[in-house]
Amino acid sequence: MNIENSCIVIFGASGDLTFRKLIPALYNLFRVGRLGQHFSVLGVARSELTDDSFRTKMRDALIKFEKAEGQELEDFCTHLYYQAVNTSEALDYAKLLPRLDELHDKYGSCGNTLYYLSTPPSLYGVIPECLAAHGLTTEEYGWKRIIVEKPFGYDIKTAKELDEKIHHYFEEHQIYRIDHYLGKETVQNLLVLRFSNGLFEPLWNRNFIDYVEITGAEAIGVEERGGYYDGSGAMRDMFQNHLLQVLAMVAMEPPAIINADSMRDEVAKVLHCLHPLTAEDVKNNVVLGQYVAGEVDDQMVVGYLAEKGVPADSNTETYMAIKCEIDNWRWAGVPFYVRTGKRLPTRVTEVVIHFKTTPHPVFSQNAPENKLIIRVQPDEGISMRFGLKKPGAGFEAKEVSMDFRYSDLSSASSLLTAYERLLLDALKGDATLFARTDAVHACWKFVQPILDYKAGRGRVYEYEAGTWGPTEADKLIAKHGKVWRKPSGVMKKKV
Ligand code: BG6
Repeated sequence: MNIENSCIVIFGASGDLTFRKLIPALYNLFRVGRLGQHFSVLGVARSELTDDSFRTKMRDALIKFEKAEGQELEDFCTHLYYQAVNTSEALDYAKLLPRLDELHDKYGSCGNTLYYLSTPPSLYGVIPECLAAHGLTTEEYGWKRIIVEKPFGYDIKTAKELDEKIHHYFEEHQIYRIDHYLGKETVQNLLVLRFSNGLFEPLWNRNFIDYVEITGAEAIGVEERGGYYDGSGAMRDMFQNHLLQVLAMVAMEPPAIINADSMRDEVAKVLHCLHPLTAEDVKNNVVLGQYVAGEVDDQMVVGYLAEKGVPADSNTETYMAIKCEIDNWRWAGVPFYVRTGKRLPTRVTEVVIHFKTTPHPVFSQNAPENKLIIRVQPDEGISMRFGLKKPGAGFEAKEVSMDFRYSDLSSASSLLTAYERLLLDALKGDATLFARTDAVHACWKFVQPILDYKAGRGRVYEYEAGTWGPTEADKLIAKHGKVWRKPSGVMKKKV
């Protein structure tokens, strides 16, 4: 699919996401020739900036974050424009009309417009309405698409309300709910690994898989985002979206063909099969935690309650572990243990498929388990662990691994980052890697009982920064006779 000439309008252009992720992603796409020359980027926010001062800000960010330089950088910056708008004031959107006309004329983009909502979530419902009031959502003159950043809603009720509002002005095929985890090469690779290899498919079910572990660990704390994070917590920030999407990639049925509809049908189907949690299940199968001061990477760090923007009596979880089950033929009885947290010992996202052991241990009581480790980040790759004979007398088995690293591929350096990939897809009109409304609702529906538990000030356990979370999480997986893997952040070297 080719990209048509278009204008990308970024609402929230003075925010962090714009200069850390969006502008760098667009710059890199431009640099490698994926954007062509016939595009413009219109930054929109309240701050009174001129085109020139916006360009200077973005140029500085690109030099800082992307080490950009030279003519390429200057050329890219000529595509950047800015318009100050009070985004909560419908009348003020009139200022966009002449600006958009001018840009569409200049770049021959015939009204094709991609709106990117990178504002506080309270404006996600307001902006579409204000755009519509000025005729900026109709597709009579060029296509109109809207990317909505997470969080899409705050719970099941607000997610539905937001959907309803946006659907007043945009059709579902125009709405791109972004989850940057779906833009990660290794998350997509889960699908290719599963559905292009005859080897795995027969084993990928309850008959051969004992349990699945999904970890999204971060060593960083809440940084400068204490205010946002405290209203969100690990469940809304990571679990409800990123990790449930990863779980869906692991557990979904193969789509008949790869296109936006059939892929997203399968994702929605499996998310709808998540076993609903009762209040009792939440107590037994969910562990919430909050970090206290400790040591990460040999540095003492403060506890969550001492972070900037966090109320001193906050009960917000910075860690969560959960046992989920999927009620369908493929997965009945296979637990999915999922955990995520800030201020854990390292940054690592991985999926571990733990296969069942042999029915009878012939060689030793502690025969190695067969595991398939899919490393999403960092050091992206796949490691298959299995038992082989320990050299020497006897028949003792030892765990060995066969490893594949993405970095070994000669083409790995040209991989697109998540935002690059997703922006490009949205410009092409390909929604395959964006969350559809039914999937988002299924995720909220599943987490709602946990939100209710939290709202009732359910128990949040302390854990020391730099550890793998509260000991209660160990007890959760111990019920299955297992321990959590403690990934180091780097995959073992080849044997
Ligand atoms: C964001 C969360 O969506 O994802 C952050 O808001 C989190 O809190 C980040 O740090 C993790 O993304 P990644 O790509 O670094 O794993």
